[in-house]
Amino acid sequence: MDRYAVIWTRTTGQPVKLADMVLNDQQLRITRTDEAMAAGLPGVSMLHDLAGLQQIVYARGDTQRLPPQLQALIPPRDPHNLQRLLLGKLLAREVQIAGMKPLDQEWHMLTFAGHGGIGHLDVFKSDAHALQYYGQVARPAIDAQSGAAMWSAFRRLALDIASQQDEDLVMDTLGPTPAVSGFVPKLVVPIRLVNGVWEGAMGDAAAGATPAVVKLETYPGLVALEELAYAVHRKAGIATPKTWAVTLTHAQEPVRMLAVERFDRTGDGRPIPVESLFSLLRTGNPRAYGSTTDGSMEKLGEVLSLPGLLSDPVAAKRDLYRRFVLAILTGNGDLHTENIALQGGAGSAALTPVFDPAPMRAYRHFRKNHNLLSALPFGGIGGYFQHGEAGYNDYVDGKLTPPDLGKRLVDFGVTLGLSRPSCKDELTQLLACTADYADEVRQILDVIPTAERKPMQPDSAGFLRTLGDVRLAVAASYALPGRGRRVQ
Ligand SMILES: Nc1ncnc2c1ncn2[C@@H]1O[C@H](COP(=O)(O)OP(=O)(O)O)[C@@H](O)[C@H]1O
Ligand SMILES: [Mg+2]
Repeated sequence: MDRYAVIWTRTTGQPVKLADMVLNDQQLRITRTDEAMAAGLPGVSMLHDLAGLQQIVYARGDTQRLPPQLQALIPPRDPHNLQRLLLGKLLAREVQIAGMKPLDQEWHMLTFAGHGGIGHLDVFKSDAHALQYYGQVARPAIDAQSGAAMWSAFRRLALDIASQQDEDLVMDTLGPTPAVSGFVPKLVVPIRLVNGVWEGAMGDAAAGATPAVVKLETYPGLVALEELAYAVHRKAGIATPKTWAVTLTHAQEPVRMLAVERFDRTGDGRPIPVESLFSLLRTGNPRAYGSTTDGSMEKLGEVLSLPGLLSDPVAAKRDLYRRFVLAILTGNGDLHTENIALQGGAGSAALTPVFDPAPMRAYRHFRKNHNLLSALPFGGIGGYFQHGEAGYNDYVDGKLTPPDLGKRLVDFGVTLGLSRPSCKDELTQLLACTADYADEVRQILDVIPTAERKPMQPDSAGFLRTLGDVRLAVAASYALPGRGRRVQ
Protein backbone atom coordinates (compact mmCIF):
# COMPACT_ATOMS: atom_id res chain seq x y z
CA MET A 1 0.00 0.00 0.00
CA ASP A 2 1.35 3.43 -0.88
CA ARG A 3 1.49 6.00 1.89
CA TYR A 4 1.85 9.67 1.10
CA ALA A 5 3.27 12.66 2.93
CA VAL A 6 4.63 16.10 2.15
CA ILE A 7 7.51 18.29 3.27
CA TRP A 8 7.09 22.02 3.71
CA THR A 9 9.36 24.74 5.03
CA ARG A 10 9.21 28.29 6.29
CA THR A 11 12.81 29.24 5.49
CA THR A 12 11.71 32.22 3.42
CA GLY A 13 9.30 33.42 6.08
CA GLN A 14 6.30 32.05 4.17
CA PRO A 15 5.21 28.39 4.16
CA VAL A 16 6.33 26.77 0.91
CA LYS A 17 5.99 23.17 -0.21
CA LEU A 18 9.35 21.47 -0.67
CA ALA A 19 8.58 17.90 -1.67
CA ASP A 20 6.15 14.99 -2.01
CA MET A 21 6.93 11.64 -0.42
CA VAL A 22 5.67 8.14 -1.17
CA LEU A 23 6.43 5.11 0.97
CA ASN A 24 5.58 1.60 -0.17
CA ASP A 25 6.90 -1.88 0.50
CA GLN A 26 9.83 -1.40 -1.84
CA GLN A 27 11.00 2.16 -1.40
CA LEU A 28 10.68 5.66 -0.08
CA ARG A 29 10.62 8.25 -2.84
CA ILE A 30 11.08 11.96 -2.22
CA THR A 31 10.38 14.31 -5.11
CA ARG A 32 11.14 17.98 -4.75
CA THR A 33 8.60 20.34 -6.26
CA ASP A 34 9.51 22.29 -9.39
CA GLU A 35 8.83 25.53 -7.51
CA ALA A 36 11.22 24.66 -4.68
CA MET A 37 13.89 23.61 -7.17
CA ALA A 38 13.45 26.80 -9.20
CA ALA A 39 13.62 28.95 -6.08
CA GLY A 40 16.77 27.11 -4.94
CA LEU A 41 15.19 26.26 -1.57
CA PRO A 42 17.22 23.93 0.65
CA GLY A 43 16.06 20.33 0.26
CA VAL A 44 16.28 17.28 2.49
CA SER A 45 20.08 17.00 2.48
CA MET A 46 22.82 19.47 1.64
CA LEU A 47 24.39 16.64 -0.38
CA HIS A 48 21.32 16.26 -2.60
CA ASP A 49 21.27 20.01 -3.11
CA LEU A 50 24.92 19.99 -4.03
CA ALA A 51 24.22 17.31 -6.64
CA GLY A 52 21.08 19.12 -7.86
CA LEU A 53 18.91 16.00 -7.35
CA GLN A 54 15.17 16.41 -7.76
CA GLN A 55 14.18 12.86 -6.88
CA ILE A 56 15.72 10.67 -4.20
CA VAL A 57 14.82 7.00 -3.91
CA TYR A 58 15.69 4.91 -0.85
CA ALA A 59 15.31 1.17 -1.25
CA ARG A 60 13.50 -0.21 1.79
CA GLY A 61 15.19 -3.56 1.69
CA ASP A 62 18.21 -3.56 3.94
CA THR A 63 17.97 -0.84 6.53
CA GLN A 64 14.29 -0.35 7.35
CA ARG A 65 15.12 3.08 8.62
CA LEU A 66 14.06 6.51 7.59
CA PRO A 67 16.71 8.63 5.90
CA PRO A 68 18.77 10.35 8.64
CA GLN A 69 17.35 13.83 8.02
CA LEU A 70 13.82 12.53 8.65
CA GLN A 71 14.87 10.17 11.44
CA ALA A 72 16.19 13.27 13.22
CA LEU A 73 12.62 14.63 13.36
CA ILE A 74 11.34 11.78 15.52
CA PRO A 75 12.63 10.57 18.89
CA PRO A 76 15.45 8.02 18.90
CA ARG A 77 14.59 4.36 18.36
CA ASP A 78 14.91 3.40 22.00
CA PRO A 79 11.80 1.97 23.64
CA HIS A 80 12.67 3.78 26.91
CA ASN A 81 13.08 7.17 25.28
CA LEU A 82 10.66 9.46 27.04
CA GLN A 83 9.70 11.53 24.02
CA ARG A 84 9.06 8.36 22.08
CA LEU A 85 6.78 7.01 24.80
CA LEU A 86 4.82 10.25 24.98
CA LEU A 87 4.56 10.51 21.23
CA GLY A 88 3.34 6.90 21.01
CA LYS A 89 0.61 7.67 23.54
CA LEU A 90 -0.50 10.84 21.79
CA LEU A 91 -0.50 9.03 18.49
CA ALA A 92 -2.58 6.20 19.95
CA ARG A 93 -5.43 8.69 20.32
CA GLU A 94 -5.50 8.78 16.49
CA VAL A 95 -4.07 5.55 15.13
CA GLN A 96 -2.92 2.27 16.61
CA ILE A 97 0.62 1.65 15.40
CA ALA A 98 1.49 -1.32 17.60
CA GLY A 99 2.10 -4.36 15.44
CA MET A 100 3.11 -2.38 12.36
CA LYS A 101 6.56 -2.79 10.87
CA PRO A 102 9.07 -0.44 12.57
CA LEU A 103 9.44 1.76 9.53
CA ASP A 104 5.67 2.13 9.18
CA GLN A 105 5.39 3.04 12.86
CA GLU A 106 8.05 5.70 12.40
CA TRP A 107 6.34 7.00 9.30
CA HIS A 108 3.23 7.63 11.44
CA MET A 109 5.31 9.39 14.10
CA LEU A 110 6.99 11.47 11.43
CA THR A 111 3.81 12.64 9.74
CA PHE A 112 2.10 13.23 13.10
CA ALA A 113 4.82 15.22 14.87
CA GLY A 114 7.68 15.84 12.42
CA HIS A 115 7.27 19.60 12.20
CA GLY A 116 8.69 22.52 14.14
CA GLY A 117 11.73 20.41 15.05
CA ILE A 118 15.41 21.19 14.60
CA GLY A 119 16.19 22.55 11.15
CA HIS A 120 13.89 23.62 8.33
CA LEU A 121 12.01 20.45 7.35
CA ASP A 122 8.34 20.21 8.33
CA VAL A 123 6.66 16.89 7.48
CA PHE A 124 2.86 16.52 7.30
CA LYS A 125 0.31 13.96 6.14
CA SER A 126 -0.96 16.31 3.46
CA ASP A 127 -0.84 19.88 2.17
CA ALA A 128 -4.07 20.57 4.03
CA HIS A 129 -2.46 19.50 7.32
CA ALA A 130 0.49 21.78 6.56
CA LEU A 131 -1.73 24.78 5.94
CA GLN A 132 -3.73 24.07 9.05
CA TYR A 133 -0.52 23.89 11.13
CA TYR A 134 0.88 27.14 9.77
CA GLY A 135 -2.44 28.90 10.23
CA GLN A 136 -3.07 27.80 13.80
CA VAL A 137 -3.35 30.37 16.53
CA ALA A 138 -0.69 30.51 19.22
CA ARG A 139 -1.07 28.09 22.10
CA PRO A 140 -1.95 29.80 25.36
CA ALA A 141 1.01 31.00 27.41
CA ILE A 142 1.99 28.92 30.43
CA ASP A 143 2.90 30.86 33.56
CA ALA A 144 5.91 30.06 35.74
CA GLN A 145 3.88 28.09 38.29
CA SER A 146 2.12 25.86 35.75
CA GLY A 147 5.43 25.51 33.93
CA ALA A 148 7.11 24.26 37.11
CA ALA A 149 4.26 21.78 37.64
CA MET A 150 4.63 20.51 34.08
CA TRP A 151 8.41 20.12 34.34
CA SER A 152 8.06 18.38 37.64
CA ALA A 153 5.63 15.90 36.05
CA PHE A 154 8.04 15.49 33.12
CA ARG A 155 10.81 14.68 35.60
CA ARG A 156 8.68 12.01 37.26
CA LEU A 157 8.01 10.54 33.83
CA ALA A 158 11.73 10.46 33.17
CA LEU A 159 12.30 8.69 36.49
CA ASP A 160 9.48 6.28 35.73
CA ILE A 161 7.56 7.24 38.87
CA ALA A 162 4.80 9.25 37.19
CA SER A 163 1.08 8.94 37.80
CA GLN A 164 -1.53 8.99 35.03
CA GLN A 165 -2.22 12.57 36.11
CA ASP A 166 1.43 13.52 35.50
CA GLU A 167 1.32 12.00 32.06
CA ASP A 168 -1.89 13.80 31.14
CA LEU A 169 -0.52 17.09 32.46
CA VAL A 170 2.55 16.88 30.22
CA MET A 171 0.64 15.80 27.14
CA ASP A 172 -2.19 18.29 27.59
CA THR A 173 0.12 21.20 28.37
CA LEU A 174 2.36 20.66 25.41
CA GLY A 175 0.51 18.62 22.81
CA PRO A 176 2.73 16.94 20.23
CA THR A 177 5.95 18.90 20.74
CA PRO A 178 8.57 18.56 18.05
CA ALA A 179 10.83 15.62 18.63
CA VAL A 180 14.53 15.94 19.09
CA SER A 181 17.30 13.41 18.89
CA GLY A 182 19.66 12.44 21.70
CA PHE A 183 19.70 10.45 24.87
CA VAL A 184 18.79 12.97 27.56
CA PRO A 185 15.06 13.64 28.24
CA LYS A 186 14.36 17.02 26.73
CA LEU A 187 11.71 19.16 25.09
CA VAL A 188 11.84 21.74 22.35
CA VAL A 189 9.71 24.60 23.66
CA PRO A 190 9.79 28.38 23.57
CA ILE A 191 10.60 29.71 27.04
CA ARG A 192 9.51 33.08 28.42
CA LEU A 193 12.27 35.01 30.12
CA VAL A 194 11.75 37.71 32.70
CA ASN A 195 14.68 40.15 32.76
CA GLY A 196 16.86 37.49 31.15
CA VAL A 197 15.95 34.85 33.75
CA TRP A 198 13.89 31.71 33.13
CA GLU A 199 11.51 30.79 35.91
CA GLY A 200 9.52 28.12 34.08
CA ALA A 201 7.10 30.17 31.95
CA MET A 202 6.56 29.12 28.35
CA GLY A 203 4.78 30.69 25.44
CA ASP A 204 4.66 31.14 21.73
CA ALA A 205 7.77 32.17 19.82
CA ALA A 206 5.64 34.54 17.72
CA ALA A 207 4.66 36.27 20.95
CA GLY A 208 8.26 36.88 21.98
CA ALA A 209 9.20 33.66 23.78
CA THR A 210 12.73 32.33 23.16
CA PRO A 211 12.90 29.10 21.11
CA ALA A 212 14.87 26.64 23.23
CA VAL A 213 15.94 23.06 23.76
CA VAL A 214 15.40 22.25 27.44
CA LYS A 215 17.35 19.32 28.84
CA LEU A 216 16.32 17.72 32.10
CA GLU A 217 18.99 16.69 34.58
CA THR A 218 19.00 12.94 35.09
CA TYR A 219 22.71 12.64 35.99
CA PRO A 220 23.50 14.47 39.24
CA GLY A 221 25.67 17.51 38.53
CA LEU A 222 25.36 17.27 34.76
CA VAL A 223 23.50 20.54 34.21
CA ALA A 224 26.23 22.46 36.04
CA LEU A 225 28.98 20.51 34.25
CA GLU A 226 27.45 21.08 30.82
CA GLU A 227 26.97 24.77 31.62
CA LEU A 228 30.62 24.92 32.70
CA ALA A 229 31.71 23.24 29.46
CA TYR A 230 29.72 25.84 27.49
CA ALA A 231 31.51 28.57 29.47
CA VAL A 232 34.90 27.07 28.57
CA HIS A 233 33.98 27.08 24.87
CA ARG A 234 32.80 30.68 25.15
CA LYS A 235 36.08 31.65 26.79
CA ALA A 236 37.95 30.01 23.92
CA GLY A 237 36.03 32.20 21.47
CA ILE A 238 33.99 29.36 19.96
CA ALA A 239 30.37 30.13 19.01
CA THR A 240 27.95 28.87 21.67
CA PRO A 241 24.22 29.44 22.15
CA LYS A 242 22.92 31.23 25.23
CA THR A 243 22.22 28.86 28.11
CA TRP A 244 20.26 29.04 31.35
CA ALA A 245 20.87 26.50 34.10
CA VAL A 246 17.80 26.59 36.32
CA THR A 247 16.27 24.77 39.25
CA LEU A 248 12.50 25.06 39.42
CA THR A 249 10.74 23.89 42.52
CA HIS A 250 7.32 22.31 42.60
CA ALA A 251 5.76 20.64 45.63
CA GLN A 252 9.13 20.90 47.38
CA GLU A 253 10.84 18.92 44.64
CA PRO A 254 13.66 20.55 42.71
CA VAL A 255 13.77 20.07 38.94
CA ARG A 256 17.13 20.92 37.40
CA MET A 257 17.32 21.84 33.75
CA LEU A 258 19.55 23.39 31.15
CA ALA A 259 17.72 25.57 28.66
CA VAL A 260 19.68 26.27 25.49
CA GLU A 261 18.60 28.89 22.99
CA ARG A 262 17.93 27.35 19.58
CA PHE A 263 20.46 28.35 16.96
CA ASP A 264 18.31 27.03 14.12
CA ARG A 265 15.89 29.97 14.23
CA THR A 266 16.56 33.52 13.01
CA GLY A 267 15.59 36.51 15.16
CA ASP A 268 12.29 36.70 13.29
CA GLY A 269 11.56 33.00 13.73
CA ARG A 270 12.54 31.60 10.34
CA PRO A 271 14.13 28.13 10.43
CA ILE A 272 17.75 27.64 9.45
CA PRO A 273 18.60 24.25 7.86
CA VAL A 274 20.68 22.03 10.15
CA GLU A 275 22.23 18.72 9.17
CA SER A 276 24.39 16.58 11.43
CA LEU A 277 27.67 15.13 10.27
CA PHE A 278 26.07 11.73 10.85
CA SER A 279 23.36 12.61 8.36
CA LEU A 280 25.89 13.81 5.78
CA LEU A 281 28.06 10.70 6.16
CA ARG A 282 25.10 8.31 6.06
CA THR A 283 23.57 10.04 3.05
CA GLY A 284 26.86 9.68 1.22
CA ASN A 285 27.34 6.02 2.19
CA PRO A 286 24.51 4.34 4.17
CA ARG A 287 26.31 1.02 4.49
CA ALA A 288 29.47 2.46 6.01
CA TYR A 289 27.76 4.79 8.50
CA GLY A 290 25.22 2.91 10.56
CA SER A 291 25.96 4.56 13.89
CA THR A 292 27.10 7.91 15.19
CA THR A 293 30.49 6.51 16.22
CA ASP A 294 31.30 5.22 12.73
CA GLY A 295 33.91 7.20 10.87
CA SER A 296 36.81 9.16 12.28
CA MET A 297 37.77 12.73 13.03
CA GLU A 298 39.86 12.72 9.86
CA LYS A 299 36.76 11.68 7.89
CA LEU A 300 34.89 14.68 9.32
CA GLY A 301 37.68 16.85 7.96
CA GLU A 302 37.02 15.35 4.53
CA VAL A 303 33.32 16.16 4.78
CA LEU A 304 34.10 19.78 5.64
CA SER A 305 36.36 19.88 2.58
CA LEU A 306 33.72 18.66 0.11
CA PRO A 307 33.92 21.07 -2.83
CA GLY A 308 31.14 23.62 -2.79
CA LEU A 309 29.61 22.67 0.56
CA LEU A 310 30.97 25.17 3.10
CA SER A 311 31.51 28.87 2.62
CA ASP A 312 34.79 28.76 4.53
CA PRO A 313 36.12 25.22 4.93
CA VAL A 314 39.48 26.38 6.25
CA ALA A 315 37.87 28.29 9.13
CA ALA A 316 35.50 25.38 9.82
CA LYS A 317 38.36 22.89 10.05
CA ARG A 318 40.25 25.08 12.49
CA ASP A 319 37.05 25.43 14.50
CA LEU A 320 36.50 21.66 14.45
CA TYR A 321 40.06 21.18 15.64
CA ARG A 322 39.62 23.56 18.56
CA ARG A 323 36.32 21.94 19.57
CA PHE A 324 37.86 18.51 19.43
CA VAL A 325 40.84 19.50 21.56
CA LEU A 326 38.50 21.13 24.08
CA ALA A 327 36.38 17.99 24.18
CA ILE A 328 39.51 16.01 25.06
CA LEU A 329 40.67 18.55 27.66
CA THR A 330 37.23 18.84 29.31
CA GLY A 331 36.56 15.10 29.47
CA ASN A 332 33.81 15.03 26.89
CA GLY A 333 34.35 11.72 25.13
CA ASP A 334 30.95 12.02 23.50
CA LEU A 335 31.73 14.19 20.48
CA HIS A 336 30.18 11.77 18.00
CA THR A 337 28.80 12.57 14.56
CA GLU A 338 25.39 13.62 15.83
CA ASN A 339 26.94 16.15 18.19
CA ILE A 340 28.50 18.08 15.32
CA ALA A 341 26.35 19.69 12.65
CA LEU A 342 26.32 22.12 9.77
CA GLN A 343 23.83 24.89 9.30
CA GLY A 344 22.87 27.00 6.30
CA GLY A 345 22.57 25.70 2.76
CA ALA A 346 24.84 23.83 0.39
CA GLY A 347 27.46 26.40 -0.61
CA SER A 348 26.95 28.59 2.45
CA ALA A 349 27.16 25.93 5.16
CA ALA A 350 29.15 26.44 8.36
CA LEU A 351 29.46 24.60 11.66
CA THR A 352 26.56 25.31 14.03
CA PRO A 353 27.39 26.78 17.41
CA VAL A 354 28.54 24.17 19.93
CA PHE A 355 25.93 21.90 21.51
CA ASP A 356 26.00 18.98 23.93
CA PRO A 357 29.51 19.60 25.34
CA ALA A 358 28.60 17.43 28.38
CA PRO A 359 31.73 16.01 30.04
CA MET A 360 30.43 12.46 30.31
CA ARG A 361 33.71 10.99 31.54
CA ALA A 362 32.65 12.12 35.02
CA TYR A 363 30.08 9.29 34.96
CA ARG A 364 32.52 6.50 34.19
CA HIS A 365 31.02 4.06 36.67
CA PHE A 366 27.54 4.20 35.28
CA ARG A 367 28.35 3.21 31.72
CA LYS A 368 31.66 2.17 30.34
CA ASN A 369 31.11 4.08 27.12
CA HIS A 370 30.79 7.34 29.07
CA ASN A 371 34.51 7.15 29.70
CA LEU A 372 35.85 7.42 26.18
CA LEU A 373 38.89 9.46 25.31
CA SER A 374 37.06 10.25 22.08
CA ALA A 375 33.88 8.81 20.55
CA LEU A 376 35.53 8.87 17.13
CA PRO A 377 39.01 7.55 16.40
CA PHE A 378 41.69 10.06 15.45
CA GLY A 379 45.36 9.62 14.64
CA GLY A 380 44.99 5.85 14.99
CA ILE A 381 43.65 5.92 18.59
CA GLY A 382 40.38 6.52 20.39
CA GLY A 383 36.97 5.56 19.11
CA TYR A 384 34.21 3.44 20.49
CA PHE A 385 35.15 0.10 19.04
CA GLN A 386 38.50 -1.59 19.12
CA HIS A 387 39.95 0.68 16.50
CA GLY A 388 43.48 1.75 16.30
CA GLU A 389 47.03 0.74 16.36
CA ALA A 390 48.25 -2.32 18.14
CA GLY A 391 48.97 -1.46 21.73
CA TYR A 392 46.52 1.39 21.82
CA ASN A 393 43.39 -0.62 22.41
CA ASP A 394 43.74 -0.14 26.14
CA TYR A 395 42.99 3.51 25.63
CA VAL A 396 39.64 2.80 24.05
CA ASP A 397 37.73 2.41 27.28
CA GLY A 398 39.55 5.28 28.90
CA LYS A 399 41.57 3.22 31.33
CA LEU A 400 44.76 4.90 30.26
CA THR A 401 45.77 8.11 28.62
CA PRO A 402 48.11 7.85 25.63
CA PRO A 403 51.41 9.44 26.65
CA ASP A 404 51.85 10.95 23.18
CA LEU A 405 48.35 12.47 23.10
CA GLY A 406 49.60 15.98 22.29
CA LYS A 407 51.68 14.76 19.39
CA ARG A 408 48.76 12.79 18.03
CA LEU A 409 46.54 15.85 18.30
CA VAL A 410 49.09 17.86 16.34
CA ASP A 411 49.26 15.11 13.71
CA PHE A 412 45.48 15.14 13.48
CA GLY A 413 45.47 18.92 13.01
CA VAL A 414 47.90 18.51 10.14
CA THR A 415 45.44 16.17 8.36
CA LEU A 416 42.89 19.02 8.64
CA GLY A 417 45.29 21.26 6.75
CA LEU A 418 46.55 23.21 9.78
CA SER A 419 50.26 23.87 9.99
CA ARG A 420 52.21 22.10 12.73
CA PRO A 421 53.13 25.38 14.50
CA SER A 422 49.53 26.58 14.46
CA CYS A 423 48.34 23.27 15.97
CA LYS A 424 50.88 23.72 18.73
CA ASP A 425 49.68 27.29 19.24
CA GLU A 426 46.11 26.10 19.57
CA LEU A 427 47.11 23.48 22.10
CA THR A 428 48.99 26.08 24.17
CA GLN A 429 45.98 28.40 24.13
CA LEU A 430 43.44 25.71 24.88
CA LEU A 431 45.52 24.34 27.74
CA ALA A 432 45.57 27.87 29.18
CA CYS A 433 41.84 28.22 28.66
CA THR A 434 41.14 25.07 30.66
CA ALA A 435 43.69 25.68 33.43
CA ASP A 436 40.98 26.23 36.10
CA TYR A 437 38.56 23.68 34.72
CA ALA A 438 39.38 20.82 37.09
CA ASP A 439 38.93 23.08 40.12
CA GLU A 440 35.55 24.18 38.86
CA VAL A 441 34.55 20.56 38.22
CA ARG A 442 35.55 19.70 41.78
CA GLN A 443 33.38 22.46 43.16
CA ILE A 444 30.40 21.07 41.28
CA LEU A 445 30.85 17.38 41.95
CA ASP A 446 32.03 17.48 45.54
CA VAL A 447 28.89 19.15 46.88
CA ILE A 448 26.41 16.63 45.46
CA PRO A 449 24.69 15.00 48.45
CA THR A 450 25.45 11.30 48.88
CA ALA A 451 21.77 10.44 48.63
CA GLU A 452 21.64 11.87 45.10
CA ARG A 453 24.76 10.18 43.77
CA LYS A 454 23.42 6.75 42.94
CA PRO A 455 23.07 5.16 40.46
CA MET A 456 25.04 7.45 38.14
CA GLN A 457 27.80 7.94 40.73
CA PRO A 458 29.74 10.92 39.46
CA ASP A 459 33.35 10.12 40.21
CA SER A 460 35.06 13.33 41.13
CA ALA A 461 38.44 11.80 42.08
CA GLY A 462 38.67 9.52 39.03
CA PHE A 463 37.52 12.22 36.66
CA LEU A 464 39.97 14.77 38.04
CA ARG A 465 42.78 12.25 37.76
CA THR A 466 41.93 11.65 34.11
CA LEU A 467 41.74 15.38 33.41
CA GLY A 468 45.18 15.78 34.97
CA ASP A 469 46.60 12.82 33.01
CA VAL A 470 45.21 14.21 29.77
CA ARG A 471 46.71 17.66 30.35
CA LEU A 472 50.02 16.14 31.23
CA ALA A 473 50.07 13.89 28.18
CA VAL A 474 49.17 16.79 25.91
CA ALA A 475 51.67 19.21 27.46
CA ALA A 476 54.49 16.67 27.63
CA SER A 477 54.25 15.56 24.04
CA TYR A 478 52.81 18.25 21.79
CA ALA A 479 55.99 20.19 21.40
CA LEU A 480 57.78 17.12 20.05
CA PRO A 481 59.15 17.58 16.56
CA GLY A 482 56.89 16.29 13.81
CA ARG A 483 57.54 13.29 11.67
CA GLY A 484 60.16 13.87 9.03
CA ARG A 485 61.99 16.51 11.03
CA ARG A 486 65.35 15.61 12.42
CA VAL A 487 65.85 15.76 16.11
CA GLN A 488 69.02 17.68 16.88
N1 LIG B 1 20.78 25.09 20.85
C1 LIG B 1 20.32 24.26 19.94
N2 LIG B 1 19.73 24.73 18.82
C2 LIG B 1 19.26 23.89 17.88
N3 LIG B 1 19.35 22.55 17.97
C3 LIG B 1 19.92 22.02 19.05
C4 LIG B 1 20.44 22.83 20.10
N4 LIG B 1 20.93 22.01 21.07
C5 LIG B 1 20.73 20.76 20.64
N5 LIG B 1 20.12 20.75 19.44
C6 LIG B 1 19.69 19.59 18.66
O1 LIG B 1 19.11 18.69 19.55
C7 LIG B 1 19.77 17.43 19.51
C8 LIG B 1 19.85 16.86 20.91
O2 LIG B 1 20.52 17.75 21.77
P1 LIG B 1 21.77 17.27 22.61
O3 LIG B 1 22.19 18.44 23.44
O4 LIG B 1 22.79 16.69 21.69
O5 LIG B 1 21.12 16.16 23.53
P2 LIG B 1 21.68 14.75 24.08
O6 LIG B 1 22.56 15.11 25.24
O7 LIG B 1 20.47 14.02 24.47
O8 LIG B 1 22.45 14.11 22.96
C9 LIG B 1 21.11 17.71 18.89
O9 LIG B 1 21.61 16.60 18.21
C10 LIG B 1 20.82 18.88 17.96
O10 LIG B 1 20.32 18.41 16.72
MG1 LIG C 1 23.77 14.84 21.65
